[in-house]
Formats: sequence, C-alpha cells, structure tokens
Amino acid sequence: MEQRRAAITAIGHFLPEERLTNADLEKLVDTSDEWIRTRTGIRERRILRDPDKATSYMASKAAKELLQKRNLDPSEIDLVIVATVTPDMFFPATACIVAAEIGAVNAWAYDISAACSGFLFALSTGTRFIESGKHEKVLVIGADKMSTIVDYSDRTTCVLFGDGAACALLEPDSSGHGIMDSIEHSDGSQWSSLCMLGGGSLNPSSPVTLEKKWHYLHQEGQPVFKAAVKGMADVAADLVERNGLTGDDIRYLVPHQANLRIIDATARRMGITMEKVMLNIERYGNTTAATIPLCLADWESELRRGDNIVLAAFGGGFTWGASWLRWAYDGTSAA
Ligand code: ACO
Repeated sequence: MEQRRAAITAIGHFLPEERLTNADLEKLVDTSDEWIRTRTGIRERRILRDPDKATSYMASKAAKELLQKRNLDPSEIDLVIVATVTPDMFFPATACIVAAEIGAVNAWAYDISAACSGFLFALSTGTRFIESGKHEKVLVIGADKMSTIVDYSDRTTCVLFGDGAACALLEPDSSGHGIMDSIEHSDGSQWSSLCMLGGGSLNPSSPVTLEKKWHYLHQEGQPVFKAAVKGMADVAADLVERNGLTGDDIRYLVPHQANLRIIDATARRMGITMEKVMLNIERYGNTTAATIPLCLADWESELRRGDNIVLAAFGGGFTWGASWLRWAYDGTSAA
C-alpha cells in the first residue's frame, strides 16, 4: 500500500463579473494597451466593485461552488485555510468568516499571509494535516480583492492586479496520487520592495499614512522582476530534478500569473513548451493568492488522473515555492 498523501479532489472558483480592460486603464493613467500587453501579457482583469463585499465573499462563493460540485456537506470539513493579503479585516481571520458563511461548523480556520505564494504555502500546510492522519477534509482557498489596495493613479502597479478567488479540497489518497513533493522558501531581507507600509504595528493608520498613500500596495518592479525570474525558475527546476522528472514527464506547469515574461523564463528553464503552461493572466491579471487555483479551475476539465502537474509561485516577502502533484481524478467528476 502506498503512503497516505494529500490529493486535490475538487476545485471551486469565483470571479466578479466586471471587467477592467486596458482601454479603461488608458483613461485613468498614462499607459497604453500595447505597453501593458507587451510588458505583462494582461488584457483585462476582474473587479469586485461592491464596497460591501470583501475577500470573504469571493472565497465563500468559490467554496460553495466546490461543495455543490462534490455534493459535500460542509459540516464534514475539518479545516479551512485562506491565503490572502487582503483579509476582510486584520482580525478575525477571513477563514473564520468563510467557514461560518459556508456552514463548515466543525472546522477550525485561519489565514496564511504569503502574498502571491499564499496558495502554495497554504496547500503545503493543509497537506501536512492530511498526511499526518489528523484530518480527512481540508479546504485551501486563495482569495484576494486586490482592487482595495491598488492605487489607480499609479500606472506602475494598477495595470497588474485583479480580484478573484479559487479553492481546492484536500483528501487522503493511498494510491500514489496527490501532492508528491514541494519546496518552499522565504527571504525577508528585501521585504520593502513589495509591501503595504501602512496600517500595521510599524505604521498604524494615521493622517500621515493616508497622506503618504501607505495603505496601497508598493512595488519596485525591477528588483521584484529579477528575483521572481530567478526564484520561480530555480525552485521549479530544483523540484523536478530532485524527483527525476524531465519536461516530457510534465503534463502542465501552473505558474503564478504575475508576468508573462517571468512565466516564459520558468518554462524554458524546466524544458517545457508553452503549450504545457496554464495561462490566464490575459483575462484576470495578477489575483495574488488566487492565480494558481484559478488556473486549475479553468483547466480542470482537461486534467486526467495520473497527470504530473507542477505549481510554482513567487511573491512578496519574498516568498516562493513549487509543488509536484500527480493529479487524482478525471475531468470535473471528482471522487
Ligand atoms: N504604462 C506605461 N509606462 C509604464 C507603466 C505603464 N503601466 N508602468 C511603468 N511604466 C514606465 C516606467 O515609468 C518606466 O519609465 P521611465 O523609463 O521613463 O522611468 C518604464 O515604463 C520602464 O519601467 P520598469 O518598471 O523598468 O518596467 P518593467 O519592464 O520592469 O515592467 C513590471 C514593470 C511589469 C511591473 C515588471 O517589473 C514586473 O512584472 N515585475 C514583477 C512583478 C511581480 O512578479 N510581482 C510579484 C508578485 S506580486 C505579489 O506578491 C503581491
């Protein structure tokens, strides 16, 4: 009998209806559709405009879709983990609000903050609870309402981000499928190149933090770009090498969707062609913790039991990592 692993057995997702196109952004800042497409690969992103609806709303919608697809009673969920940098509030954790909203009355719940690597870090954490035998059903959600921390007068960041949420159910598998291996890294020495300075215990909210626009995301594009290209390509290559995999063995690379050029560099380093790369950055932009599960949602119907899938991400912190999955089910008909 194979060892007990954690396998993804269902996917759910939610995207707001409203589209913010490059043409819309041309009216807000000094930019062009051509600049955005050639530098990032993005054409449009989704925006949750309703001020009364926060990250927990999108996360709950995604979770409810998953529960419905699997015909699952929410009281069976043991643990809810939400990866986000845009929680509804500092506390309580957004995961607690989501668990209550979806009826996961027997679950404990908490958030993970690892920016664009959030889903991978949450997946790795959830995996340990399944592998150890402590839990049978863990819900891992990546959700971000980035439009609430983006400055729509800053052309260097406002073109990049969008809103969205998606989630995965983890259950035990003893047939050689599921999450086979993962590598996670962080390095806080360059934290200031990608951060939100205001509102925390370092710079509590004040007229000064408001005036300095410290409640918006701040990014130094070039250093982040360089670190992301190296970090994501290296960690994905390390993971496949240490497991004796080659580009031919991999069915899909699922990269964090921050920039098409970073994704291209990662794919080349792994020796895989772009047809094997899940890409939806064009339609959704960078939805931070949601990009990877949103790709899985978009490609779910094409995935087959036994497919080798590599997930890879890089984000603020810095944080970065990769996971190798042997996919556990065919198409959308989960176990
Ligand atoms: N439209 C037109 N011009 C622009 C825009 C824009 N939207 N944004 C920047 N420019 C200008 C700049 O002002 C600069 O002009 P200058 O030369 O006159 O000063 C010029 O374009 C070049 O700017 P760069 O920042 O050097 O452009 P670059 O090619 O690096 O692209 C980008 C910027 C897309 C942000 C890139 O650096 C990038 O993708 N960085 C990494 C993003 C990332 O991976 N983040 C991690 C995940 S996010 C998270 O964790 C929350």
